[in-house]
Amino acid sequence: MSGLPDHLRKPVRGMRDWTPRQIYALRHVEDTLRKVAESFGYRQVETPVVEHFEVLAKKAGQEIVNEIYVFKDKAGRDLGLRFDMTVPIARLLSYHMEIPKPVRWYYFSKVFRYDEPQHGRYREFHQFGIELVGSSTPRAEVEVLQVLAESLNAVNAGNYLIMLNDRRAIDKLLERWELTPYREIIYRALDKKSKMSREEVLKIMTAGGVPLDKAEKLYDAASEIELHDAVDFLTALDSNLGSFYSQLVRYLEDAVPLERVKFNLSIVRGLDYYTGVVFEVFAGEYKLAVGGGGRYDDLLQLYSGVKTPALGFAIGVERLMEALGLLEVEKPIDYYIYVFDDEGYRVAIKIARKLRQSGYSVVIELGEKNLKDTFEYVLKLGVKHLMIIGKRELERGVVKIRDLGKRLEYEIPIEQL
Ligand code: HAM
Repeated sequence: MSGLPDHLRKPVRGMRDWTPRQIYALRHVEDTLRKVAESFGYRQVETPVVEHFEVLAKKAGQEIVNEIYVFKDKAGRDLGLRFDMTVPIARLLSYHMEIPKPVRWYYFSKVFRYDEPQHGRYREFHQFGIELVGSSTPRAEVEVLQVLAESLNAVNAGNYLIMLNDRRAIDKLLERWELTPYREIIYRALDKKSKMSREEVLKIMTAGGVPLDKAEKLYDAASEIELHDAVDFLTALDSNLGSFYSQLVRYLEDAVPLERVKFNLSIVRGLDYYTGVVFEVFAGEYKLAVGGGGRYDDLLQLYSGVKTPALGFAIGVERLMEALGLLEVEKPIDYYIYVFDDEGYRVAIKIARKLRQSGYSVVIELGEKNLKDTFEYVLKLGVKHLMIIGKRELERGVVKIRDLGKRLEYEIPIEQL
């Protein structure tokens, strides 16, 4: 057989096709998540897929900048594909300063990262997320974490775990242990803690100049602790941070199940724009984070010149669907009409129009299959009712209906349809 070679039949590396069954699974997740965001008063926003490269590169951090799809347009502009929605939203708000704060927006959008494709890592994927812009009270953190928790509940991922941390806490600790000059390398090392062995993580730090004893101390401190213990730890580190967290935990108690939230100093996140609370969320046994977020109080100022506190989260929708095992949803066709001749076909057109006006989906057989083949076809296609318009039935003013789910056959007078 000729035609395209195999590698051209498949989508470009890291991209994927979406067949209807897969799209309906995606839509189901989208509808569910959208409802949660809207119930908290969030409204949907969308931005172009293409951005000025300069806007994207401003505060993403080298790791993400390396993953930006970059290109020049025909006029020679340096452009890139958005790698998240936080940055485009910050840009949008910088020329829409009149929009009243706090802003509560959500998105369900495609983003692009030139990542190494593997399980759970794609170059084109969907993010559902929210951004809450213009507030610095811990109640904003409570709200964002609650939307996250409710989103996961709504899609039946109730066995989630939110790992919380604070960049201010790590920075304080580094200051105390006189490790501030190694901040970048330490962040990079901690970020790898869940993916690498102890030796490998320590090696990253020591290779960057961190003394081994301090690297070990840091490694051991960066483990999972209960939220209440975290408050004590943070209070000892810095009284302001301590009071922020004791307030946060007190409010959180009423907003989310506290046993689903842990504090973990190793959660630093790859993006450079975070300034305070950061978190990642895991679902069940699924190894990779299904979502992440945090506070980025300096990002908007980079674009607008005006200091504007903000925070949010994004869920990787493909990962969430994989974690849920929700990969396909069938959307059955309500009626498939089989006719034997032109007379039947003309009646079918009228019946189909009426049924469609009443909200049913209806397909009329195109006349190229016999009844037996049609039968096999509709079973594969996912059809609820096969309607057969035969000569003898027509003479009696009825049609035959086969309910394919219940395996019943009956007749209905055409007028009743
Ligand atoms: P992020 O952690 O880079 O955060 O991405 C959020 C989620 O997107 C991840 O937790 C993961 O589920 C998914 N994700 C990331 N990379 C890939 C990939 N290559 N393939 C499939 N899924 C992926 C952000 O993007 C921030 N903008 C979140 C945020 C919003 N922070 C504040 N507001």
